[in-house]
Amino acid sequence: MRIPDIATAARVLALGHYQPANVVSNDDLTKTMDTNDEWIQSRVGIKERRIAPPEESVEDMAAIAGGKALASSGLTPDDVDLVIVATCTLETQIPNAAAVVAHRLGIDSPGAFDVNAACAGFCYALATANAAVRSGGARNVLVIGAEKLSQWIDWTDRSTAVIFADGAGAAVVGPSETPGIGPVVWGSSGDKSDAIRIKDRDDYLRQEGQTVFRWATTALHPVALEACERAGVDPSELSAFVPHQANLRIIEAIARKLGADKAVIARDIVHAGNTSAASIPLALSRMLERGEVRSGGLALMLGFGAGLTYAGQVIEIP
Ligand SMILES: CC(C)(COP(=O)(O)OP(=O)(O)OC[C@H]1O[C@@H](n2cnc3c(N)ncnc32)[C@H](O)[C@@H]1OP(=O)(O)O)[C@@H](O)C(=O)NCCC(=O)NCCS
Repeated sequence: MRIPDIATAARVLALGHYQPANVVSNDDLTKTMDTNDEWIQSRVGIKERRIAPPEESVEDMAAIAGGKALASSGLTPDDVDLVIVATCTLETQIPNAAAVVAHRLGIDSPGAFDVNAACAGFCYALATANAAVRSGGARNVLVIGAEKLSQWIDWTDRSTAVIFADGAGAAVVGPSETPGIGPVVWGSSGDKSDAIRIKDRDDYLRQEGQTVFRWATTALHPVALEACERAGVDPSELSAFVPHQANLRIIEAIARKLGADKAVIARDIVHAGNTSAASIPLALSRMLERGEVRSGGLALMLGFGAGLTYAGQVIEIP
């Protein structure tokens, strides 16, 4: 047996994102359901979200975000040998999204698989990409979070319809001389698996909102703190905190307990809604584009959602 030359470290080389063009405001939703802008903003923090048209698929959004991240990295499709798509909202289960997206981007014969860890999926996929590069399993990995929640939402159910949305975010992960991705802290609470679910193929996404809210505001800040500790980073050194964009009240509750006083807190949910596995790379890519965070700073990512699953790690912003 021979062991390949192994990269000692990996980092995020570049980010990219995509959102559908169609903006749906809270007032738009009041035309079809009994809700109002004040309730949505005060309970969830969302002002508007993007909803894809019927003909735009998860794979379409993933390919655009992935293509942007690849272009920004300066690599070519030939440099990529693994593609991972984190998603839980494909229209059909077969084929997987990663192989389809890789083909569209002209990436020839890469390893290609999807990860379903719901809203924690991007952090799981990023940890897997980090391990693949460091173990010699891949040179460069395209990691994408892409979701079309709108096709799994009951548009008469105001407890979910006001929250979820569509979009995609992506990262290119490659070898590095110094570590740019910290150790992942991940886990699950399967005893609460009924709290967010799609019962069968004729059903829509349903959730026990208060169960999820209580869990997210009490169980997750220790995960965030552990991810910092395992990376050897004090929360005061973080320049960004990018949690899953589930609910602004959840984001702010975790941020308060984290004590990351200098960090910019991602509040992308206000204009993007909850896009499950897409929300973290989408938020960070947009923050970078707007100049709210700087390249080289440290960002803590924290994904959590159905399963219930969670995962977090510190990264150096590309
Ligand atoms: C879903 C969630 C926003 C509901 O907020 P809540 O404060 O728990 O609200 P409740 O379900 O207790 O409902 C409170 C009232 O608002 C009403 N209400 C619920 N949805 C509403 C809406 N969209 N518009 C207006 N009123 C609404 C309820 O009917 C209820 O009315 P009542 O008091 O007259 O019975 C909240 O529980 C939540 O965000 N949970 C976490 C969910 C989450 O993040 N999921 C994704 C995880 S990845």
